[in-house]
Amino acid sequence: MVDQILDAFKEVKAEIKERNYDQKLKVGIIGTGWIAEAHVSAYKKCPDVEIVALADLIPGKAEAFCERYDVGKVQFFPSHKELIDSGLCDAVSVCTYNATHAECTIYALEHNVSVLLEKPMCVTLDEAVAICKAEKNSDAVLSIGFQPRFDENMKMLKKVVQSGELGKIYYIQTGGGRRRGIPTPFGTSFIRKETAGIGALGDIGCYSLDMVLNSIGYPKPLTVSGYKSDFFGKAPEYEHSDVFSVDDFAAGFIRLEGGIILDFRIAWAMNLDTPGDTIIMGTKGSVRVPSTECWNGSIGGPLVIYHEIAGEQIETVIPEKDNSENCFDIKIRSFCDAVKEHDEAPVPCREILYNQAIIDGISRSAELGREIAIEIPEI
Ligand SMILES: NC(=O)c1ccc[n+]([C@@H]2O[C@H](COP(=O)([O-])OP(=O)(O)OC[C@H]3O[C@@H](n4cnc5c(N)ncnc54)[C@H](O)[C@@H]3O)[C@@H](O)[C@H]2O)c1
Repeated sequence: MVDQILDAFKEVKAEIKERNYDQKLKVGIIGTGWIAEAHVSAYKKCPDVEIVALADLIPGKAEAFCERYDVGKVQFFPSHKELIDSGLCDAVSVCTYNATHAECTIYALEHNVSVLLEKPMCVTLDEAVAICKAEKNSDAVLSIGFQPRFDENMKMLKKVVQSGELGKIYYIQTGGGRRRGIPTPFGTSFIRKETAGIGALGDIGCYSLDMVLNSIGYPKPLTVSGYKSDFFGKAPEYEHSDVFSVDDFAAGFIRLEGGIILDFRIAWAMNLDTPGDTIIMGTKGSVRVPSTECWNGSIGGPLVIYHEIAGEQIETVIPEKDNSENCFDIKIRSFCDAVKEHDEAPVPCREILYNQAIIDGISRSAELGREIAIEIPEI
């Protein structure tokens, strides 16, 4: 019986795309900080991609980056504007801190340059709406950089939910966290309001939200009651407490279209191992996604389905899928394919708009100290 259930979720191998490797895609990287290296490494694995330009606001940073990661022969620019204006690029990776995601992305789209935008999409809902409008008016492709979308286990989670085996979904608990894990990889851009805009809520919260919202088909968020705190970032013993100006913990209770409740919490630091597994509860079955101790969008063990078969309460364990192909590489490759084929973006902004609306709603509700309605303008 269990085998039959697992068979229902067997994958149909996607056909491998025929690619035209002679037609080279010219790519630029905007922002040459920590994550830019992963973009360069993945682009280098694409024989039909040429990195032609790098931009960074900090003088000399792009040049040093180019040398350190052996990017090759490129042109350097002092900001996203000069890079886009140069007309050298068909596409760009926006690898800047969150606060400049919107301006860089909108400028590129207005010039019909395709964009792979790092997560979170931006800081506010207003920015997300402006990005979606720019995408609508552009011939270019915009994809948002959620590499966990390409994780085989995440795909399986979506397949389980979409199969209808769980019945009607009515309650979701999600989130994640680290006991101690405020990120300061190469400086403090993640923890300053002027560069990051949002803390754990945006940085890792966006992954939890995408995991569950993507599996249930991204219903519209309607209302939210949110909470944020900064007890760890502002603790006097924390070495960067003087500049810490975002949240290190956030929680929200969100009503989604279709009568679904979403209970969410996220932490960069807490006195706990994990704030709990992700669970998606349905009228015929529920699924549990074990959490990890360092939440960054990967699962902590096999998915378990709790359901009833022949009157018996059964647990079906879905063996963990092998992720031998690097999800980050697939994120970059699928973006390049979409640009070259003028295809739908692998992770479209119209979905992530709802992710950003929840993040923005939690922030605003927390500041107001009450539940608020989430109003998303027509794009
Ligand atoms: N997908 C992932 O796994 C992952 C991992 C880490 C970070 N990120 C995301 O990547 C983004 C960047 O993170 P990071 O750690 O590399 O940040 P960072 O602070 O190390 O680097 C950002 C760089 O962008 C530059 N910059 C800002 N605005 C610019 C502009 N208008 N034009 C040109 N350069 C500009 C800054 O000078 C800085 O050097 C963040 O949004 C973060 O959330 C994603």
